[in-house]
Amino acid sequence: MKNLTLIVSFLLTFCFFESQAQTISITTDKTALILKVGEKKKLFQDYFGKKVPDMTNNAPQQHEAYITAGTDNLLEPAIRIIHTDGNPSLDLNYISHSVVKKNENVTLTTIILKDPAYPVEVDLYYESFFKENIIKTWTKINNNEKGVIQLGNYASSMLHFDAADYWLTQFHGDWAKEMKMEESRLTHGIKILDSKLGARPNLFQPPFFTLSLNGPADENRGEVIQGTLAWTGNFQFAFEIDQFNSLRVISGINPYASTYQLGVGKSFDTPEFIFTYSDNGTGEASRNFHDWATKYGILDGTQPRLTLLNNWESTGFDFNEARLSKVLDEAKTLGVDMFLLDDGWFGNKYPRKDDKAGLGDWQVNKKKLPSGLSHLAREGKDKGLKFGIWIEPEMVNPKSELYEKHPDWILKLPNREENYFRNQLVLDLLNPEVQNFVYNVVDKLLSDNPDLAYIKWDCNRMMTNTYSPYLKNNQSNLYVDYTRSFYSVLERIRQKYPHLPMMLCSGGGGRTDYGGLKYFTEFWPSDDTDGIERLFIQWGYSYFFPSFAMANHVTSWGKESLKFRTDVAMMGKLGYDINVSQMPADELHFSQQSVQTYKSLESVIWHGDMYHLVSPYKENLAVLQYVSKAQDKAVLFSYTLHTRYGSEFAPVKLKGLDPKSSYKVEETNLFPGTTSSFHENGQSFSGAYLMDMGLHVSSGKELSSAVITITRVQ
Ligand code: GLA
Repeated sequence: MKNLTLIVSFLLTFCFFESQAQTISITTDKTALILKVGEKKKLFQDYFGKKVPDMTNNAPQQHEAYITAGTDNLLEPAIRIIHTDGNPSLDLNYISHSVVKKNENVTLTTIILKDPAYPVEVDLYYESFFKENIIKTWTKINNNEKGVIQLGNYASSMLHFDAADYWLTQFHGDWAKEMKMEESRLTHGIKILDSKLGARPNLFQPPFFTLSLNGPADENRGEVIQGTLAWTGNFQFAFEIDQFNSLRVISGINPYASTYQLGVGKSFDTPEFIFTYSDNGTGEASRNFHDWATKYGILDGTQPRLTLLNNWESTGFDFNEARLSKVLDEAKTLGVDMFLLDDGWFGNKYPRKDDKAGLGDWQVNKKKLPSGLSHLAREGKDKGLKFGIWIEPEMVNPKSELYEKHPDWILKLPNREENYFRNQLVLDLLNPEVQNFVYNVVDKLLSDNPDLAYIKWDCNRMMTNTYSPYLKNNQSNLYVDYTRSFYSVLERIRQKYPHLPMMLCSGGGGRTDYGGLKYFTEFWPSDDTDGIERLFIQWGYSYFFPSFAMANHVTSWGKESLKFRTDVAMMGKLGYDINVSQMPADELHFSQQSVQTYKSLESVIWHGDMYHLVSPYKENLAVLQYVSKAQDKAVLFSYTLHTRYGSEFAPVKLKGLDPKSSYKVEETNLFPGTTSSFHENGQSFSGAYLMDMGLHVSSGKELSSAVITITRVQ
């Protein structure tokens, strides 16, 4: 079978050499990136945009596709190399390219470039996903010299644009306020978005951007490019407008403190830069991302996810078997699929009773849980619940047995004081012994507790005083190789446990990227679960991630009603982290009903087409809609944030429905004892009416929310 696949893929491979095709077209259903071999065998980007006849960008300047440093380039390069003999320049000529149609939907184009004077080869890869209109691109740098070469810059991608003006939407934040959106017009010179945080890279700036051409980005109109780097480490996006008003966008690993020493005969693969183009605004671009991620970007994207009750917000570190037994009962009462045991279950010599001790000692705490984890798992099983657990295996508290045994396993500078964050340090994952340790934490947990159904993998600090005792004199490889080591541990885990659901968490939104999500089934967007704050945070992520990937928990954060907070959490993968026993009867009843309502809507929420109908960044209202691919069912979430005396919200026009079908609109997930104030509740309308005239989806009441189902009746 494997051989057959190889033969088929060989037959589908077309190799082109210099004398043949000099135009290389990387296309999807609606998009084309055209590269051309031109003067002096250089590779140029000829066109990037909508697939139309006669594609060429007609710009007076030709843009080299992957610009090298050291020869005649005057602006930011894609690649900068110092050769073994100290020559700080690179010259790249086109050698050949190949196109492999991997299947009906996916095509891989590889372009080989080479320095005519030095044995350094640079391969550019472009994988295009036809239906989803996504292109994934990365670079391989091959050192065939007789010694080490130094890579100063090594971008995954370089793209060129020629427009009248350029608008950049960036995302930024901090703990509990992640993913804030900010748009500005790019000016001449260079704008850099980057991270230097290492292990928890995305806390201040996550690796996403939206670029809009000829005007600010709009949900439904205009040319936009959305891009992201699949890398759980330092990234850099550079946007440089030159003297001719051309823009170059360079995306890749952050070269900061990372001149990479590439050994003899070695290759360096950059992470993938994933991007999409749309001439119908950010709505279409984000749907492209959702469709792609479901099939290709996130582990088991098409598989179901588990609803859960977590104990972090209700117990913190303070629990024992009796308390957890109560939480298990609460989970059962609520009707969720799983109980997730959070931080605090481990450490004996240094019990994990707060965040000051025990991290690194992954043995169950005998005082808190004398009967062990398997007992809890069994108790859960008897109650019809799955059992999941929290770990943070890359970290250590100085107050731990691990630290005592292996003081050399920690990233820390010689001759400097240790620098703590949340009282902890980062383990030196560059060291293969540490990699084994981290792998074994997971493997032992799963072997000892075969019923374990879920892992929440946390990472609660960034790197500071960054130095690896293992790497010794090669410190500039540290940032890159840390992330690679992280992936290689995950690779091993996935070989043995290919489908175990795992949440990628980093003290909130510190790890939110498609590099990590190859190994994880979901991520934790933020510790902030306040209804309003969360709405904005999820809004930002929704441009790049499908809803099923975002773990959203209903907690007691925030001043909004439980109904409001629940409706917000339902727009992703629903979970709870709240003291269920303390809920008044009506709140408990509401929550039980919400879990069931969610289960009946989850397939539309997870896999439907998402439309941002009204943005909370623009109005005092936020409205989001999901429509099933078959257009037979839709769910609309409406949040009224603020009201003004005498002003009313206009009807909101729906999207993505079949204009000719008739749909019944009904409010669901009502709080017990309340009646719907949705004006059109229970009525039926044509898809055309709903999309042209719209619905009055705001109750007009401050901090209120509504979930409306739109069901095809004929
Ligand atoms: C991080 C996570 C929280 C919780 C704590 C436990 O902050 O984001 O959800 O797991 O760690 O220490």
